[in-house]
Amino acid sequence: MASMEKYLDERDLARSLRDDVRAGLSGTPKTLPPKWFYDGRGSTLFEEITRLPEYYPTRTERAVLVEHAPEIARLAEAKTLVELGSGSSEKTRLLLDAMLERGTLGRFVPLDVSEPALVAAVAALTAAYPGLAISGVVGDYTRHLRHLPDGDHRMVAFLGGTIGNMVPGERAAFLTDLRSVLHEGEWLLLGADLVKDPAVLLPAYDDAAGVTAEFNRNVLRVINRALAADFTPGAFDHVAAWNPSHEWIEMRLRSLRPQRVHIRDLSLDLSFTEGEEIRTEISTKFRRVGLTAELESAGFAIRHWWTDPRSWFALTLAQAVHP
Ligand code: AVJ
Repeated sequence: MASMEKYLDERDLARSLRDDVRAGLSGTPKTLPPKWFYDGRGSTLFEEITRLPEYYPTRTERAVLVEHAPEIARLAEAKTLVELGSGSSEKTRLLLDAMLERGTLGRFVPLDVSEPALVAAVAALTAAYPGLAISGVVGDYTRHLRHLPDGDHRMVAFLGGTIGNMVPGERAAFLTDLRSVLHEGEWLLLGADLVKDPAVLLPAYDDAAGVTAEFNRNVLRVINRALAADFTPGAFDHVAAWNPSHEWIEMRLRSLRPQRVHIRDLSLDLSFTEGEEIRTEISTKFRRVGLTAELESAGFAIRHWWTDPRSWFALTLAQAVHP
């Protein structure tokens, strides 16, 4: 049993890409939001990143899930699992298996901006879980949470550490928005990467094989294709830096030489000085106290906190309480 609801189409996406690129590249410093990394090629590169020896978050989160999925299923007793930014929904199977085993789960609602990724995931999951109702939602979790199917006993999973891509103000808005669509007692299962030695963090975002560098440059290819721009991706160096005051990793693209770029669909001419950078992503690393406070001010109480033996990545189960 599968269905699909769509709150975003190619035209909405094209418009938000145009708005983001114009806003981000017109000012100084230049920035681009990380959501535009993930076209087909970018998603493949990200999958490759998750298998790199240096990139610990995916396998660490998976290990925590493997260990605690039955407990999560028992604690939440959820009838519906919602997954935000579900992508391939690969780790989700661990949760689905545990929740089906527990006997409470009837429905899975994956939400993703990418319709092709969602269609593929829904098809694969429908085949693997014939008894489960699967309702795909094509949407953006920063805009379309109010369209999530209403219900009771829902658990919303937001995995992978993706919450770290938001700055604090965006996180507060997102968490408050999510809380407002949940009923008291419903659950948030949140994956968050933790603060650790920069000697571990930096290689995770600047791997020896150069996959992350290609992933970073891919945003320029996306803009070239979608907006008829003429970026030369090879004319930009990949930079990963630890920002100790914000406790986030910044990814940037650094212009190797002075250069001009034309974005035809925006009638925008850009110039780069040698060494000038575009910030393309922040990936925040959290501490337990800070994340607890952020969740609390949005109306969530942390009920459980699980981590790996090295405390590199946390999975937290929070409950919606009166705000
Ligand atoms: C998928 C957003 C969690 O921030 O670690 C991987 C994306 N960027 N390597 C992250 C990413 C560079 C990733 N998230």
